[in-house]
Amino acid sequence: MSYPDLIEDEATLDEIMTRPAEPVVELMRGLEGDILILGINGKMGLSLGRLAVRAIEEAGVDKKVIGVSRFSDHAGRQKLEAWGVKTIQCDLLDADEVAGLPEVPNIIFMAGRKFGTQGSPELTWAMNTLVPARVCDVYKNSRIVAFSTGNVYPFTPVESGGATEDVTPDPVGDYAQSCLGREMIFTYYSHNIPVLLFRLNYAIDLRYGVLNDLAQKVLNGKVIDLEMGYVNIIWQGDANAQALRCLPLCSSPARPLNITGPKTMSIRSLATELGRHLGCAPVFEGQESKNALLNNSWQATELFGPPNVDVEALIRWTAHWIKIGGPSLNKPTHFEVRSGKF
Ligand SMILES: NC(=O)c1ccc[n+]([C@@H]2O[C@H](COP(=O)([O-])OP(=O)(O)OC[C@H]3O[C@@H](n4cnc5c(N)ncnc54)[C@H](OP(=O)(O)O)[C@@H]3O)[C@@H](O)[C@H]2O)c1
Repeated sequence: MSYPDLIEDEATLDEIMTRPAEPVVELMRGLEGDILILGINGKMGLSLGRLAVRAIEEAGVDKKVIGVSRFSDHAGRQKLEAWGVKTIQCDLLDADEVAGLPEVPNIIFMAGRKFGTQGSPELTWAMNTLVPARVCDVYKNSRIVAFSTGNVYPFTPVESGGATEDVTPDPVGDYAQSCLGREMIFTYYSHNIPVLLFRLNYAIDLRYGVLNDLAQKVLNGKVIDLEMGYVNIIWQGDANAQALRCLPLCSSPARPLNITGPKTMSIRSLATELGRHLGCAPVFEGQESKNALLNNSWQATELFGPPNVDVEALIRWTAHWIKIGGPSLNKPTHFEVRSGKF
């Protein structure tokens, strides 16, 4: 697939991010039944829904994509409907509302809560554990790709290449612990329901993500803390494509799969490279720790091949986006947090 050197506006960004590569189109030709995306109205869900619709159209098959959220932001719902995603308003914390959702064989579960956990941890625990149980109680005859996070892993030495799926989870703090709780609930039910635990680290959209965070700091001369000195990132279009391609890989019991780019990325190098494009030098403080929250995606690379968009393009696109004042979601990732407190 070919991509432009630079992205100038949101319409182009959305179009590029949701271009279906051939394996996703091929998937739709073989997949039976409709697709239901729970928690669609977030940073990733809108583009995932549109990608699925476009892949179905290109495959020439008859299949619906249904998106479920509270739609606290109405603009997301309007976009989805315009793109061909059928939407249903539902609070997944309400058992009666969940019970009223349509029966669909293919589920992508994206709902969750991270920020604000410090203020009300009980809501985070309910969202990340009670909601999965309610969903599994209803979707007994479906397969589920359940979004999770690399935050379930302990920090690993930087030179190790990151935690593989064999590393025993050892999460720090309520958010990450509740994410392990979410995995455990899905695993408990997965003896009857095929599940894949999609352990993602840091999707890159130009409107948010680790590179957006860094580029804004570089441009505004804000200090970049180097203690969490390394991360893993992946183009959101690639992460979304891999989520759909995980549907046939769901298994009983549940299978964890790490999803991110194939390389450990240095924050110092990413910021320096962004600064080179932006024409300003980053301001750093502190020193890189010997370990970091790192996710090893060799299994996903074996299954799906390398991501279509490489880090060099992501840096170039993000720097330009920030330079031209492209829209931002104003939702920092807080990737630098080492305490587990969000
Ligand atoms: N983005 C990343 O880089 C990243 C990295 C690691 C893991 N993840 C995980 O991947 C998943 C998707 O990521 P994301 O960034 O798109 O998350 P997100 O922005 O938080 O989106 C999730 C959406 O779920 C919906 N939701 C929340 N509570 C709900 C409820 N009670 N009932 C119905 N819908 C509800 C919300 O939309 P409404 O307000 O409209 O309901 C929310 O926007 C999340 O679970 C996240 O933890 C993401």
